[in-house]
Amino acid sequence: MTSSVSHSSSGGLHAAIIMDGNGRWALRRGLPRIAGHRAGAEALRRTVEAAVKHGVGTLTVYAFSSDNWNRPKEEVGALMKLFLAWLRSEVRRCIDNGVRVTVIGRRDRLPRLMLPAIEECESRTAHGARLHLRLAVDYSARDQLLAAARRPGATANRAALSCALGSPDVDLLIRTGGEQRLSDFLLWECAYAELYFTPRLWPDFGPEDLSQALAEFHTRDRRFGGLPAVVSSRG
Ligand code: IPE
Ligand code: IPE
Ligand code: MG
Repeated sequence: MTSSVSHSSSGGLHAAIIMDGNGRWALRRGLPRIAGHRAGAEALRRTVEAAVKHGVGTLTVYAFSSDNWNRPKEEVGALMKLFLAWLRSEVRRCIDNGVRVTVIGRRDRLPRLMLPAIEECESRTAHGARLHLRLAVDYSARDQLLAAARRPGATANRAALSCALGSPDVDLLIRTGGEQRLSDFLLWECAYAELYFTPRLWPDFGPEDLSQALAEFHTRDRRFGGLPAVVSSRG
């Protein structure tokens, strides 16, 4: 049987982050939840810069899940405005830092004025070769898998499905905010991801936290079902 492990096409490590804890961060300060999301956008900016410095190849971040539509209309609206502002304000910084941005997830339910902003951000950053930043918005791993499986002429094998999903396997999955679950994020791609959970709330996350997660990742023994390196080399 062939291995299902595929690696980042742009090379380098694929880290993914479930950016959770914005609401609690705001609540603890007596602020509205959206203040936490605003602070979360700052944390993303810091983390992207740190990821570039660490030579991370691909960074996929969970910004809005398909289940997040169930939140109050005001919060959803404020989040969409924040994404739009982020896309517009970060393009220049991304170009300067060699960051290529793509947005993954469904686009047909997003406010219409977000679409040209997404396309512009993607096309203007398309040549970024240092880091591929993938923003997951209206994203559901289950829905992505269903869509891939339902494509006309879809072939049911691992390589074809990975290719249809268009995502390298995740090496390191970080979730902030203390919860230890995947919440429908990158279910296929995380088959052999190293999981790293931290109680740090996303708006407090910074370069130090990323360094710590990466340092821990490099201590892990990834066996992919085989034997530890030291045992297998002895035969
Ligand atoms: C994550 O923070 C951001 C989104 C889901 C959009 P939350 O808003 O889930 O924050 P908590 O979990 O309520 O603290
Ligand atoms: C997951 O966080 C989605 C994002 C971080 C965008 P949630 O806060 O929505 O997840 P649950 O509801 O705690 O599982
Ligand atoms: Mg949450």
